Amino acid sequence: MDIQFSRHRRLRNSANMRAMLRENHLRVEDFIYPIFVVEGEKKKNEVSSMPGVFQISLDLLNEEIEEVVSLGIKSIILFGVPDSDHKDEVGSGAYHDHGIVQLATRQVKEVYPDLIVVADTCLCEFTDHGHCGIVENGQVLNDPTLDLLARTAVSQVKAGADIIAPSNMMDGFVAAIRHGLDEAGFEHIPIMSYAVKYSSAYYGPFRDAAQSAPQFGDRKTYQMDPANREEAIREAGSDLDEGADFLIVKPALAYLDIIRDVKNNFNAPIVAYNVSGEYSMIKAAALNGWVDEKTIVMETLLGMKRAGVDLIITYFAKDVARWLKEE
Ligand code: PBG
Ligand code: ZN
Repeated sequence: MDIQFSRHRRLRNSANMRAMLRENHLRVEDFIYPIFVVEGEKKKNEVSSMPGVFQISLDLLNEEIEEVVSLGIKSIILFGVPDSDHKDEVGSGAYHDHGIVQLATRQVKEVYPDLIVVADTCLCEFTDHGHCGIVENGQVLNDPTLDLLARTAVSQVKAGADIIAPSNMMDGFVAAIRHGLDEAGFEHIPIMSYAVKYSSAYYGPFRDAAQSAPQFGDRKTYQMDPANREEAIREAGSDLDEGADFLIVKPALAYLDIIRDVKNNFNAPIVAYNVSGEYSMIKAAALNGWVDEKTIVMETLLGMKRAGVDLIITYFAKDVARWLKEE
């Protein structure tokens, strides 16, 4: 046989050759680890739909943070789980100086001042109706919600949050929060906007963990339609114009094309949210022995890096940090 053809296998011949030519990598610095802080004491409740993920009360939080820090993880994102009798129509627990997220933030920053604390800025965990904004006549109101988001962000930063991550998908939320932070003297605090957030069934397990499911209707009037690609560019563009410092695409796995589009169209750090349902699907299959957890998690997260993200918010962060140490 004397024909010419390409021999791609030459570059795959050995582990060292493959390591030298690897185009994308996972590093512990890539990960932001989500933590659910719950009101009450001595609580470490495993979320039934998310094995290995817990709602943790403040008295047990430091142990968890110690583990996170010792694994080399640089950043966490906090979600609050208030008692149901602390929820109200306007989600006041979100912007109370002694709200669960504010208390947790103060506590964490006191013990681990270098750990980057991201605050998820939304109302749905704190409203009795479970929507991300103020509700009137069954409608989620846009502009009246903006003030409350700005208040929430300011109170989170006062408690020590390093990054504000608004997730509620009201129009103008980045501008309103930027303005609120600047007026309060926090112009140095970055906004990591959930800029491209689809209305997704992949959030199901999160809503168990955060007890934040809407009590009527759905989030389709504010979160994006999964069928849309062009719209992602408009969403990301307006958030950048309003002053967003990072852009989150969420969910990640079914939206890798969107991540690449955002990467190609904008010059800003991009974050993938590897959401609860993506975690639960892999966990369930792994616990059944149907897939190899470590290999499939690394492959999945690497796919997000390859699609173009800089950072990944993932419930697998601690596992990956351990696996990276083993290598
Ligand atoms: C709150 C919020 C949600 C998630 C992050 N922030 C849920 C939602 O919009 O219903 C989902 C995260 C996940 O599924 O892991 N707005
Ligand atoms: Zn919300």
